[in-house]
Amino acid sequence: MHLLSIDDLSTGDIETLFQLSDGFLEVASRPIKKVPTLRGRTQVNMFFEASTRTLTSFELAGKRLSADVVNIKASGSSVSKGESLKDTILTLESYRPDIIVMRHHQVGACRLAARYTGASVVNAGDGAGEHPTQCLLDLYSLRRTFGRLDGLKVAIVGDVLRSRVARSNVFGFRKMGIDVRLVGPPTLMPPGIGRWNVPVYQDLAALEDVDVVYLLRMQLERARGRVPPVPSLREYSRVWGLSRQRLRPGQKVMHPGPINRGVELSGDLADDDRSLILHQVESGLAVRMAILYHVLAPHPEADTG
Ligand code: NCD
Repeated sequence: MHLLSIDDLSTGDIETLFQLSDGFLEVASRPIKKVPTLRGRTQVNMFFEASTRTLTSFELAGKRLSADVVNIKASGSSVSKGESLKDTILTLESYRPDIIVMRHHQVGACRLAARYTGASVVNAGDGAGEHPTQCLLDLYSLRRTFGRLDGLKVAIVGDVLRSRVARSNVFGFRKMGIDVRLVGPPTLMPPGIGRWNVPVYQDLAALEDVDVVYLLRMQLERARGRVPPVPSLREYSRVWGLSRQRLRPGQKVMHPGPINRGVELSGDLADDDRSLILHQVESGLAVRMAILYHVLAPHPEADTG
């Protein structure tokens, strides 16, 4: 199976992934952190856009499951020589990969790739489209922290406009019974936000009663020549930036990373014990091991040997 959108998974699938993740979290605590689950399988990570934590966690996840892992980055590959995505996928197809993990700057690129390969395609972020594995690791981090998901209140704050994380998280969080709201200036909300069917607030007072404040990075690199949606980063951080003082006792902070210290959150808040940012990264490795296992699990030959 492919994992292209968070909507590809039922609540039952997500529960199964959490159970698998619990097992893989335990593997990560052992002195020898490797299991033979995907021995003989080939995983290709194709990253056409910058990434640190997503690429390293997928690479490490594959290696800890004993898969053969190959990384392809846009710079240094034939993509920079003008090869089309279709031709790159067809070329790789000759090696018969089992899993292609892909990040691309265009919405829908992973869905297109899935048409030309027999491998299971995992979307590791497609433009401003989706980022389903981030949503799953965030859900898993929440579940580990609070012991439940149903009934939690989460505010997603900031640059929703260009955020694939916000898109996947709104839909995935709601699927698991979380009460989600969006908070930020109207210029950072996408057109058509009404169709998301989620409350939108233009005031930090909307954070008052939430359990978790989920901050988004200001993605100015995606503005590309267009008028920036906020007057300046200093202004944004003064009005919308989160500091320790603005957080109520007991509230937790999440962020998909990379963080901009001093923009969407203050440096001391990033290092505060109410920040789950590094907990999210730890959860990410276990969840991505679970995902790699799960996308291959329906194939009967996955369990042999
Ligand atoms: C996010 C992404 O790439 O969409 N980061 C990530 O995957 N850890 C969010 C971001 O870049 O701000």
